[in-house]
Amino acid sequence: CGIVGYVGDKEAASFLLEGLAKLEYRGYDSAGIAVFDGAKIGVEKSVGRLAALRDKLKGHELKGTMGIGHTRWATHGRPSDVNSHPHTDCSGDFVVVHNGIIENYLTLKEELIENGHSFKSETDTEVVAHLIEEVYNGDFVASVREVLRRVEGSYSLVFMSSKHPGTLIATKQDNPLVIGVGEGENFIASDIPAIIQRTRRTYILNDGELAVITKDSIKISNRQGEPVTKKIFEVNWNAEAAEKGGYEHFMLKEIHEQPKAVRDTMSQRIAKDGKTIVMDELKWDADYLNSFNKIYIVACGTAYHAGMVGKYYIEKLARTVVEVDVASEFRYREPIVDENTLFIAVSQSGETSDTLAAMKESKRLGAKTLAITNVVGSSIAREADQVLYTWAGPEIAVASTKAYTTQIVLFFMLALYMAEIKKTVAPERVAELIGQLQKIPAQISETLSDVEPLKTFAKRYGFNDDVFYIGRGLDYHVALEGSLKLKEISYIHAEAYAAGELKHGTLALIVEGVPVIALATQKSVYEKTLSNIKEVKARDAVVIGIATEGDEELEKYVDHVMKVPETDELVIPILTVVPLQLLAYYAAITRGCDVDKPRNLAKSVTVE
Ligand code: G6P
Repeated sequence: CGIVGYVGDKEAASFLLEGLAKLEYRGYDSAGIAVFDGAKIGVEKSVGRLAALRDKLKGHELKGTMGIGHTRWATHGRPSDVNSHPHTDCSGDFVVVHNGIIENYLTLKEELIENGHSFKSETDTEVVAHLIEEVYNGDFVASVREVLRRVEGSYSLVFMSSKHPGTLIATKQDNPLVIGVGEGENFIASDIPAIIQRTRRTYILNDGELAVITKDSIKISNRQGEPVTKKIFEVNWNAEAAEKGGYEHFMLKEIHEQPKAVRDTMSQRIAKDGKTIVMDELKWDADYLNSFNKIYIVACGTAYHAGMVGKYYIEKLARTVVEVDVASEFRYREPIVDENTLFIAVSQSGETSDTLAAMKESKRLGAKTLAITNVVGSSIAREADQVLYTWAGPEIAVASTKAYTTQIVLFFMLALYMAEIKKTVAPERVAELIGQLQKIPAQISETLSDVEPLKTFAKRYGFNDDVFYIGRGLDYHVALEGSLKLKEISYIHAEAYAAGELKHGTLALIVEGVPVIALATQKSVYEKTLSNIKEVKARDAVVIGIATEGDEELEKYVDHVMKVPETDELVIPILTVVPLQLLAYYAAITRGCDVDKPRNLAKSVTVE
């Protein structure tokens, strides 16, 4: 999660620990440093807070002027001393720190084990350390390049070797990495806050670039090995802005991280040919699926909304009955749960007490349990029989954004996986849907590139007392999440309604000038949604329609239209939620609210 590196003439460890402390805000579960003392590399690491690492170092500080450090947010392998970074090869001559996911690590690990390497940890990162040892030919840079040719996935990586005193190599793909330019010393960090106390002059690495860093020089080259001349980026952010990566709030940063979060969550779960889903974590078969006759999805808040989308997917694609409930209701209503039940808990933090209690109760009644969570080794992950992790990275803003989109992605993949086993969807259709899913990260980026209309809407309607959200089917579920986002952070009263249900009550509240956000992306119910939109328009509501590109119809009936890229109507919630998150964000800004820490709410609710 956090990377630091130092080469210079001062004690490396002091900068490494200071830099890692500046990255603590990002969240982590373990930490470690490696320092080269002129002869060999010393490594110290510890699960838990940095204080635990500092304690371990007391009395036997790691001395030396070159080193690398890391705070880990577990993905592959639970939080533990041995799974913490830095990771070393067998000889101890090479050491690496890594952020991201090495997708082909299992194949590489098998190969390396066959060649005699022995592994200490369960991480994907350790293969990188052994791989450089394997391919090393005396030329550090060439060997790193060979490693990069063989690894697939996303990474920022820093390599250090006792065979090459005074040289660090840093490179990245889809994960951030910056180099801080000093005088007689240079710094490496995954994020600017780690280095701004030492220098404000930086190089921001681009994907595929590789930097060879000594105390007096920084040489950057591209993927082909050609030298790259980069401009110095002078950081003029204060420490607080730097933590947010230059964004005004964590929530905005996290909204913008969604393309990567979705890509990471999909990674390793789609077969190479792009036609089938691979769920190594589950390894379900027809017998297992036939062993239960009902699924409960239980969660709180945003995770509950993701669960509703999950129900839709599993019922539609895998034809299994699913019930969704909020955990605080479920646990007290004597739910009908037995050994023929699959219980799925959804929780970003993995610590929400109601969700955890609901899971424990279901387990006691004999249910099989699956957790969908973002935090490796969290209580809910530990309690469940099986776990699917969303690899969204740490989420800091109280209002959940990237956790929600990745939960939906996982549910979609889970439903397709079940459908493949149950043969409820033709293989061609599965392949087609996977194809659409793979386009989503780029389509989210496209949606994020044009926020001006949303800012304008927020300014115009941000002071209304009430806002309504309507939609049918999946649009309705996304409407619920959109209204929760607005309510949570802007304190505007917001309600979402199934569009067809309007006339059974809510229509009484629709009067002139009331803003209605109408989602109309579900082709199968498009005409019906349009009739509902006409109903609110007839009462002089101001309607903001959310449609897919290519829809020329909706704009005839609404006041404003916001379009998202075209995709299959099943996949579209992952896109339509994005403008709704942004609308809530800009409404909160307009009203001067504390976006990241809304009043009365907490990120993780560990009390009943
Ligand atoms: C709190 C947070 C929400 C979150 C909910 C469930 O209310 O403020 O953003 O959706 O808890 O949290 P979980 O970690 O279980 O997903």
